Amino acid sequence: MQKTTIRAGSNIAFIKYWGVADAAINLPLSNSISMTLDNAHTTTTVEWVERGLERDEIILDGKRLENAAAARLTDHLDRLRAVAGADYRARVMSVNNFPMASGIASSASGFAALTVAGVRALGLELDATRLSALARRGSGSASRSLFAGFVEWERGADDATSIARQLYPPAHWDLRDVVVVVSSAPKHVSSAGGHTLAATSPLNQGRVTSAEAGLSQVRAAIRTRDIDRLGPVIEQDALAMHSVMMTSTPSLLYWQPGTLEVLQAVRAWREFDRLPAYFTIDAGPNVHLICEADTVTPLLERLSALACVKRTIVSGPGPAPYAVDEHLF
Ligand code: DP6
Repeated sequence: MQKTTIRAGSNIAFIKYWGVADAAINLPLSNSISMTLDNAHTTTTVEWVERGLERDEIILDGKRLENAAAARLTDHLDRLRAVAGADYRARVMSVNNFPMASGIASSASGFAALTVAGVRALGLELDATRLSALARRGSGSASRSLFAGFVEWERGADDATSIARQLYPPAHWDLRDVVVVVSSAPKHVSSAGGHTLAATSPLNQGRVTSAEAGLSQVRAAIRTRDIDRLGPVIEQDALAMHSVMMTSTPSLLYWQPGTLEVLQAVRAWREFDRLPAYFTIDAGPNVHLICEADTVTPLLERLSALACVKRTIVSGPGPAPYAVDEHLF
């Protein structure tokens, strides 16, 4: 066993994961497609100890997690212990290079980094597919962060077959995700809680059907590097997912006034200024604008004139999780 430090990128989904067929293993209702991010990552150090520790010690962004806050992570450490058939305790320290409430999924990069670091620290060699299935159990979207560039998570039928794979490496397309932070208030309902609500929406089945149709369009748009083909499909899927959220019981309303202001602005810039940028939104109020690299500067200029914009974070297509020499402790 060896102390191990891994850095993993978060990801932004073009066709979203929303709703579960089996909540116990995070088996989704449909496939999803994402881009792994190069400028929004989690770095995690894991060390397993055979004796002397009563429970796992977990420090996240400088704060020690206790009881309920630690449970989701200790549950995941239990999965890693089960793979090794061992009863060790873990010391875990983890830092994000982006603010938690920025609208970037810290659980995707966090569970990807924890899975890879935890498995390697146990001295086990698992391939990326197996690691993807394990990471999925911690957080569904983490299954996609096991791979570089453009990634599809296959819904699958069970724990072994619900796995992600790479569609194209990062160098395939110089795409950007510009996160527009309009609110840093913490969210009321975690995505994990929200997935089980999707089935209560009368719109859920329609959204699953349209997401399935969107997959082939998104694959083709990425293959041909066609932003004007990709954009309308990702906007529609994000709006369909939020329609499901809004019409669930209880209703999930993640948007803030700034969210709508950015959506209206980006559509106006497209129409009147021919600026090829398109939006998507995760389970929160902040907006992700997807565009090609040369659109970033004119886009940031326009965004800086909007009063609702608190900050922006720009990422390109990122690498698969990789080892870092410097440990966090
Ligand atoms: C809206 O269950 O992976 O980002 O609850 O933070 O673990 P956590 O997230 P997860 O759901 C992510 C849902 C989404 C869409 C997506 O990334 O596909």
